[in-house]
Amino acid sequence: MARLTPLPAPWWTNAVVYQVYPRSFADSDGDGIGDLRGVLGKLDYLAALGIDVLWLSPFYPSPQDDNGYDISDYQDVDPVFGTLADIDALVAQAHERGIRIVLDLVVNHTSDEHPWFVDSRSSADNPKRDWYWWRPPRAGRSPGDPGAEPTNWESAFTGPAWELDEATGEYFLHLFSPKQPDLNWENPEVRQAIHTMMRWWLDRGVDGFRMDVINLISKDPALPDGPLLRGGPLGDPWGAVVCGPRIHEFLQELHREVVAGRAEPLLMVGEMPGVTVADAVLFTDPARAEVDMVFQFEHVAMGPVKWDAAAPRLTDLKASLGRWQLGLADVGWNSLYLSNHDQPRPVSRFGDDRRYRVESAKALATVLHLHRGTPYVYQGDELGMTNAHFAAIEDYRDIESRNHYARALSLGQAAEDVMGVLAAVSRDHARTPMQWDDSPQAGFTTGTPWLAVNPNYPSVNAAAAMADPSSVWHHYRRLIELRHDEPVVALGDFTMLLADDEQVYAFTRRLDDVQLTVVANLSSEPVDLDLAVDGDLLFVTGGPGTDPAELAPWESRLYRRG
Ligand code: NOJ
Repeated sequence: MARLTPLPAPWWTNAVVYQVYPRSFADSDGDGIGDLRGVLGKLDYLAALGIDVLWLSPFYPSPQDDNGYDISDYQDVDPVFGTLADIDALVAQAHERGIRIVLDLVVNHTSDEHPWFVDSRSSADNPKRDWYWWRPPRAGRSPGDPGAEPTNWESAFTGPAWELDEATGEYFLHLFSPKQPDLNWENPEVRQAIHTMMRWWLDRGVDGFRMDVINLISKDPALPDGPLLRGGPLGDPWGAVVCGPRIHEFLQELHREVVAGRAEPLLMVGEMPGVTVADAVLFTDPARAEVDMVFQFEHVAMGPVKWDAAAPRLTDLKASLGRWQLGLADVGWNSLYLSNHDQPRPVSRFGDDRRYRVESAKALATVLHLHRGTPYVYQGDELGMTNAHFAAIEDYRDIESRNHYARALSLGQAAEDVMGVLAAVSRDHARTPMQWDDSPQAGFTTGTPWLAVNPNYPSVNAAAAMADPSSVWHHYRRLIELRHDEPVVALGDFTMLLADDEQVYAFTRRLDDVQLTVVANLSSEPVDLDLAVDGDLLFVTGGPGTDPAELAPWESRLYRRG
């Protein structure tokens, strides 16, 4: 593990994280589903890209109702992905290449097939009953009556967030699918069991955790109804479950029990929908010892809500990301991302995947990677992979996409309109198989892939990108190298420029005598650049870079002074 440049700051300030969604990354055994041996076979690819950390989406045993975010055993590997020996090999071989491993841990809920829940539902007086949120029907109602659920909450995947268990006549809470019952973190035994399990993984050599929806673990115990959604009858649980009353206590305890005192400092990143800048300062203040950084959602939830496909205005995006830069400048730390396995592809959402795929992928990468914070690269974004073009609902596999489609139709929306929404925002856009080369199925599998490969793979693939010095891939590699080599990228302060400009994204980073200036035209039209920039031009993407007063469509530049 010699490659990281020592800095007077935690190691992850100059690190770049790469997210692998194992199901869609590389299939070693031809069953159409990616696996851990597939990931092992691609470690040299990741090392060549230069990344420091590999975040693995869940590979644990799971009924796969939500592609593994429904875990039925925290301390094993699903046979579809491999074995514990494969994980051990992955950790060892990644470490040999200076790459750390971060596991995705889903502890807001388990699968309903986890033995804890199987026990919990077996009877009302089972010792594990209180490990989950069980409640009787609403006062005056009988089990199963319409509206008898203990609260009016809607689950994230549509329908009530409570499921009736006929045997005991009580309901259990599931903020996601009914196969993802929420754990009751109020119960100290639950917390201890999770701490023990996390220590077990750390003892196996992993280097940190990405904690799934971790700011939902503390619920308001009064379980109040939420404001009605779309006129009812279901309501929004958010107010009662986002950053609830004991969230900081739970995370501090977890830090004490699991993280503190490890020989190697870890990376702890919490996925936190609905989190504000002020919350994030508290969560990431090192003195409070909770997590190192959070995934906030403001910039990916633009358009009023996710299921409104409207693209954000650039000024709104800048205002949001700028506010996060400023808010965490002195205390705390930002994670930087434009996509992950839940989001559409950045080049399709924020860029122009039809006319300027390569140029816009590069410009977006320039802007993101040169912010202050830890960048996260989602698999395939380094190739400029685009959204899928599925024609039928049957082409989609994602539970969220399918459920929202069904609900929209049941509310009378036209199928064509709903397909249009899915075409913009479905999570499956990120989940089409990784495009390795131009062989059948993009080199992802020798079998039939679980989700169709994007037909643009003959031209958009890793082999072609690595062979072409002007590719998106090489630009990512350069940006990652720059972060390792230039302390100003990791630690410099951040100043947004031209905040009101609808096309240009520009900012400076400064550390001691060194100043970087980033300018990027995030639009498909040329633009006049009304900014005097001094310094040497370090790189240009997407344009000639010759006219100081004009940027080509999706041109990005980096200047350095000092
Ligand atoms: C967030 C994960 O990223 C997503 O894929 C999952 O569906 C939900 N949490 C529930 O675990």
